[in-house]
Amino acid sequence: MTDLPQLLTERLARAFTEVAGEPTDPAVRRSERADYQADGALPLAKTLRRPPRDIATEVLNRADLGDLVAHAEVAGPGFINLTLADTALAGLVEQMASDERLGVAKVSEPERVLVDYSGPNVAKEMHVGHLRSTIIGDALVRLLGHLGHEVVRRNHIGDWGTPFGMLIEHLLDIGADEAATELSVGDLGRFYQEARKKFDADENFAERARRRVVALQSGDPETLRLWRLLVDESARYFQQVYERLDVLLEPSDIAGESSYNDQLGPVVEELVQLGLAVESEGALCAFPKGFTGRDGKPIPLILRKSDGGYGYDTTDLAALRHRVRDLKARRIIYITDLGQRLHFEMLFEVGREAGWLGPHATAEFHGFGVVLGSDRKRLRTRAGESIKLIDLIDEAVRRAASIVAEKAPHLSAEEQQDVAQVVGVGALKYADLSNDRVKDYVFDWDRMLSFDGNTAPYLQYAHARIRSVFRRGEIDPATLRGASVVIADPTERALAMRLAEFEGVLYKAAETVELHRICGYLYDVATAFTAFYERCPVLRAEDERTRTSRLVLCDVTARVLATGLATLGITAPDRM
Ligand code: ARG
Repeated sequence: MTDLPQLLTERLARAFTEVAGEPTDPAVRRSERADYQADGALPLAKTLRRPPRDIATEVLNRADLGDLVAHAEVAGPGFINLTLADTALAGLVEQMASDERLGVAKVSEPERVLVDYSGPNVAKEMHVGHLRSTIIGDALVRLLGHLGHEVVRRNHIGDWGTPFGMLIEHLLDIGADEAATELSVGDLGRFYQEARKKFDADENFAERARRRVVALQSGDPETLRLWRLLVDESARYFQQVYERLDVLLEPSDIAGESSYNDQLGPVVEELVQLGLAVESEGALCAFPKGFTGRDGKPIPLILRKSDGGYGYDTTDLAALRHRVRDLKARRIIYITDLGQRLHFEMLFEVGREAGWLGPHATAEFHGFGVVLGSDRKRLRTRAGESIKLIDLIDEAVRRAASIVAEKAPHLSAEEQQDVAQVVGVGALKYADLSNDRVKDYVFDWDRMLSFDGNTAPYLQYAHARIRSVFRRGEIDPATLRGASVVIADPTERALAMRLAEFEGVLYKAAETVELHRICGYLYDVATAFTAFYERCPVLRAEDERTRTSRLVLCDVTARVLATGLATLGITAPDRM
C-alpha cells in the first residue's frame, strides 16, 4: 500500500482509539501549516470532557509514528500537525516506481458491481443527458475494473411502450429503407417528431398507431419484426457514438426495457404476495415507506396501470430483481440525471421491502446536473434543437485538430490526426468529469480545449512533455526500476507527497462515485510537477544520483497521469 493519508491514519488510529475508549477516526487531511494534520481530537473534547489540546497531546505520546513522520506537534485548538520524513516520502515513490500498478492494490474482496448507464431511447434523440451518463458511467466502470472488481455493464435502453405504435406506422409510411437510413445516421429526433406530428394531426394515423400498440403487445410477428428493425437501427447508431467516444459499451451490454417483458407479471405477482401492492384509483400501486408528496399523501410507484399495461416503474422493478437474483450483483449503481432521483429512491425502498435488497445487495443512485449553454439554459443548437451527439463529438475533434496543428507542427499529419482525436474526445469527457457531478455545468469549447487549467489537454500535454524528456535523454524508463529517490528540493518533496496520494484518491472516488476528485488530483500532480520541473534540472542535474532520482519522479508522474486519465476513459499520447 502506498496511500499516504491512509498510512498516517493507521499510525494514529490506535492511539486515538485508546484515548477515546472506542474506535475513533483521526481525521487526517492535507494541511496548510504542515504537510498533513489530524483533527480527531476536536470532536472528542465533548464526549471526553477534556480540552482537545490535552487529548491531542496524549494521542501523540501514545502514537507510534515510526519513521513516517519527522516532526509532529499539537497546534491551535488541538490539531496534530504532521511533517513527513523525506526518506519515507522517497520510499513511497520508489515503491510506486517499481510496481506495475503504481502501488495501487487490487481490492482484497472483489465484488460484482453492476453499473446502469447511458440508457438512450430507441428512435428518439440521444441527448446530452445521455452523453453525461455515458461518460460518467464509462469512467466508473473503468475505475472499478482497475481496482479489481467484477463489473457488469448494463445499458437499459428505452425500447418498449406506447410510442412504438406511432413509430412503426411512421416507418411503414416512409418505407423501411428510408427509415433505416434516417435512424442509422442518427436522425432519431426527426423520425420521432414526424411520427408525433402525424399522431397529433391525423386521426386516421392515430387510430392505426393505437391498433399497432395492441398488435405489438400481443406479439404479432410482423409487428415485432418492424419493431426489431427500429431497435436494431437505433442500436447501430448508439454503437457508432460509443465507438467515436471510445467508451467500453458494446451491443451485448444492452438489456433494454423490452427484455423484462416476461418478468413484469411475475414481479407484480410477487409484490402482491408480499402484501406490497395496493389498488388505487383503478391502478395497482406500491407505496414505499417514507415517501410523501407536498400534500402529505404517500406517493406510489405504478405497478400496473388501470388499462392493465406496465410502464417504466414496473420495468425497473423487474430489472432490479433480475440483477440481484439472476446476475448476483452485490452493488448496483444507477447513473442518470438528478430528475430521476425520486424514482430510484422509491424503487430501492420497494426493493428493500421485498427483500431483494439488503446487506447482501445494495443499490445506489448517483445523479448528475444539466449541461448548460453559454446562455445558461439547457444546451441546444442555435436553431433551438437538441444537439446530435455525433455532431458534438465531430466538432470536438475538429476544434482539437486546429489547436494541435498550431501547437504541435512537428508531428506528422497522421500523428496530428490521432492526437486531435484523443484531445478532442478527452476534452469533452474531462469537462464533464471534472465538475462536481451533481452540479449543472456550462459547456464551453474554449475552456475545455484550453492547454491551461484543469483540462484534459493540459494533463495530456504535461504527460507528453515528460515523455519527451526521456526521448531527449535517450533513456528507457524501465532501466530506472529499483533506483533510489532522494528528496532534497521543496518542489521534489511537494511532488512526491502528491504522488503518494494516488491510491487513496482512486479508492475514494470509487466509493463515492465522485470522479471529479480524480481530476482535481491529477491537476494537482501536474501543477506540482510543473513547479518541480521549473526549478530542478533533470537531464542536466548536478550529479548522477540526483539525475536518476529526478528521472524516477518524472516517470512516476507520467505514469500516474496516464493511468489516472485512463481510469477516466481518456488516452494520454506520448507525443503532442
Ligand atoms: N431511458 C432512460 C432515459 O432516457 C434512462 C434509463 C435509466 N436506467 C434505468 N434503469 N431506468 O431517461
